[in-house]
Amino acid sequence: MKKKIVAGNWKMNTTYSEGEILAKEIAGQLKEVPEGVQLIVAPPFTHLCCLTGPLREAGIGIAAQNCADHESGAYTGEVSAAMLASIGVQYCIIGHSERREYYGETDAVLLEKVKLAFQHGIIPIFCIGERLYERESNQHFEVVEHQLQNVVCQLSATDFEKIILAYEPVWAIGTGKTATAAQAQEMHAYIRTVLREKFGVAADNTSILYGGSCKPSNAAELFGQADVDGGLIGGASLNSGDFIAIAKAVS
Ligand code: PGA
Repeated sequence: MKKKIVAGNWKMNTTYSEGEILAKEIAGQLKEVPEGVQLIVAPPFTHLCCLTGPLREAGIGIAAQNCADHESGAYTGEVSAAMLASIGVQYCIIGHSERREYYGETDAVLLEKVKLAFQHGIIPIFCIGERLYERESNQHFEVVEHQLQNVVCQLSATDFEKIILAYEPVWAIGTGKTATAAQAQEMHAYIRTVLREKFGVAADNTSILYGGSCKPSNAAELFGQADVDGGLIGGASLNSGDFIAIAKAVS
């Protein structure tokens, strides 16, 4: 069964005390979220140690926004998957377009990160998606297929069964421009087709989230699509009311 998931990516926002308040507000409204919808939040690294316990107790999943592509050692400033696992972090966003774009993370680096996350029992929320010029030049399917082939299709069948994917067209992230529900469904169905070729029917159980300017006003239409299994929410996840309203829109 595909899991319905709504994950909030706080990015580099909130001081610790602001994050603590936001987490409490989300936990306080959790009863409004339909049963069967898994909420996940991804606060900055500095908040993880203190927020993991209370969020997990409340039934909210906790994710990091990144992890290192090495096991351990002389990599100043990096945080390893083992460290995240040691404080109870369950998920890790890997391959977000901001990491690919601003920090030069390649598919090869991302594959290492995904493998290390799995080795430490952390479930990757792996992001894929095309840039504006790639969509405008009709290369979006090809770009997304390469991202899948280079990382997801390199995994074992056992790891593949656990991964969560997020399709985030780069042109829709933080821009207020959302993909139409039809564009999202078309790409999600394509992603499933690519994965089915490699992993067979297991691909039918993969949760594929949509991300990019998802908000309470457009969530229901996006989530109503057959292959859209929830969302990865940036800006709107910083407001507990909006985040919960989006989670309530999951059908
Ligand atoms: P956005 O970000 O909702 O602010 O567009 C989504 C994301 O980057 O995950």
